[in-house]
Amino acid sequence: MSRILVTSALPYANGDIHIGHLVEYIQTDIFVRFLRLIGEDVLYVCASDAHGAPIEINAAKKGMTPQKLVEEFHQRHQTDFSRFEISFNEFYSTDSPENQRHSEIIYLKAKENNHIVSREIEQFYCERCGRFLPDRYIKGTCPKCAAPDQYGDVCESCGATYRPTELSDAHCAICGAKPQLRTSLHLFFKLMDFSDFLLEWTSFPNRLQDEVRGFVRTWIDQGLRDWDISRDGPYFGFKIPGEENKFFYVWLDAPIGYIAATEHYVSGKNGVKVEDYWIDPKSEIEIHHFIGKDITYFHTLFWPAMLKAADYRTPTAVHVHGFLTVDSRKMSKSRGTFITARQFADQVNPWFLRYFYATKLGSTIDDIDLNLEEFVNRTNAELVNNITNLISRSAGFLNKRLDSRLGVVPKTCEELKKQVTTHVEQCYHDYRLLKYSNAIKNILAISDIANNYVQQNEPWSTVKTDPEKARDDLTFAINCSKILSILLKPVLPSYSAKVEQILGLGDLKWADAKFDFELRKINVFEKLVDRLEPNTMQHVIEKAKDDLVPKIVKTIAPEFKEEISIEDFAKIDLRVGKVLSASHIDGSDKLLKLRVDVGREIRTVFAGIKSSYSPEDLVGRTVSVVCNLAPRKMRFGVSEAMVMAASDPDGKIILCELDSDAVPGSIIK
Ligand code: MSP
Ligand code: ZN
Repeated sequence: MSRILVTSALPYANGDIHIGHLVEYIQTDIFVRFLRLIGEDVLYVCASDAHGAPIEINAAKKGMTPQKLVEEFHQRHQTDFSRFEISFNEFYSTDSPENQRHSEIIYLKAKENNHIVSREIEQFYCERCGRFLPDRYIKGTCPKCAAPDQYGDVCESCGATYRPTELSDAHCAICGAKPQLRTSLHLFFKLMDFSDFLLEWTSFPNRLQDEVRGFVRTWIDQGLRDWDISRDGPYFGFKIPGEENKFFYVWLDAPIGYIAATEHYVSGKNGVKVEDYWIDPKSEIEIHHFIGKDITYFHTLFWPAMLKAADYRTPTAVHVHGFLTVDSRKMSKSRGTFITARQFADQVNPWFLRYFYATKLGSTIDDIDLNLEEFVNRTNAELVNNITNLISRSAGFLNKRLDSRLGVVPKTCEELKKQVTTHVEQCYHDYRLLKYSNAIKNILAISDIANNYVQQNEPWSTVKTDPEKARDDLTFAINCSKILSILLKPVLPSYSAKVEQILGLGDLKWADAKFDFELRKINVFEKLVDRLEPNTMQHVIEKAKDDLVPKIVKTIAPEFKEEISIEDFAKIDLRVGKVLSASHIDGSDKLLKLRVDVGREIRTVFAGIKSSYSPEDLVGRTVSVVCNLAPRKMRFGVSEAMVMAASDPDGKIILCELDSDAVPGSIIK
């Protein structure tokens, strides 16, 4: 038995888990469950990635603390992961005391060994927001193709990359103000010091997939640049010891979160310590990271170098996967294919996504495609009609006609048993090597063998003449179902648990995948899965699109009036007016008397705005005036026009004001 630590990348606590993320968590979870099934001692840890500028800025926008925002998403993620049966032993947070401690230790060791330098850099600063702006928070016109409104680092229109200073009209993406360049002292990790180490580290057998090793080597060959690990406040992160208003860049403490999560899990338990996993050089515990290809640089260069700098242990392997596409295209909000874990699980059994991803995942970094039609077809054809049908017809028939009792596997099945055993062995290696699509092929091959056997031997006929033969034939089929359920356990844990329940068996292990289930009674078959309706995914997409539309907040605004024509509207002579004077009227507590310049003449207006405005602050205002309303005779004189105003739900009056450069007498339409 070996001890193995497995991690998935730490999701940002800044948005919901979506079906793209799930590629990774499902891939990792299958590996973990496989290792547990074969009897390895696995610890699977993950955490919320809590720090960084986007989380801090989003929290500020929502008027909450970053801690609160992170806590909310942490909870949501936990719920989503459990619906998809992701079996973390620990789901912690990078905003934790353990993480702060290890971050400081690692940084201070690196500093002590002269791997940290400081240098002034020039960066955009927004005075209005009072902060330095990360590249993503600067927008402007692309210097290459002139597309407006592009990020400070890359143009989404032409794909060009550049520095934010190259944008022609850089502005702050938060408030729109024009930022200025300011210098600031930053701390850098000298990655170059680790070139030789990284060359050796990346060449270690089975540590990286060949293609990954290939491009990581070209990065090293091109020369490694110093890595900026500090950010100026305000920033949500850990303060850098010994510095003023400087914080660790989120990517410094994020991977250290793997260590923090390990420590949090083992603390208070007897047995292995966090040091055995991460520090003791004599330790033989394997560390396996699973990540998406976008974060390869961080995990194969920065991360091992940081650990090395501080004399921590480095990972055994980093497994990289590709990105999810839906119907061969990038997930997209407007197409409704940016589907969250929640939206999916609310309408489709999460087992099916686990199964489908397994049929697609290999050990390469190729993107994997969720073709929506294929998803429905394969689920129905393979999982429902093939694998589930085998146990449903066999167990169902034994229940109905043969007293639920198994016989023995027929002697004539030796050859088929051998074939099945070979598939079991291949499946084992497929899982070990992360070739899940091959594992599923072997599983389907076993299911085919068993279904064909039942088809050929027709127990529904033989039961009339030789019931014991029928019983033995079905015993072969049921043994195949038991084996299938074990082989599927890493992918479909609770499906397999239901099969075990039907067969009256306990928690089966990989070693139980053999033909030894004889002369026993099984339980009553219960439905395992429902077929997917052909239009299921269309509903999911509709829902995803629907959820994008901001839900209108119902106000106490009155009903709309009946429709009018443009001619009706044009009858109103609506003009720009300027308030020349305003005064109180003796004996009126509602009205103010105004003199308003409406271009061709000056009109007297009695306006019911006294509750909200005092005469002093009305003079000089540019307002909208209805000029062709019949003059109204009042106790204090004739009102010759109407100044327009809104009244809010509390009865407060708000004038319809215009920009001050509007010319009195101009028509408003
Ligand atoms: N917080 C960082 C990881 C820090 S690890 C120390 C991060 N978070 S993330 O939420 O953006 O992504 C988490 C994982 O999901 C990453 O490995 C990422 O590659 C993966 N995926 C995110 N979108 C994905 C797809 N559309 N398809 C497949 N995997 C994707 O990166
Ligand atoms: Zn700003």
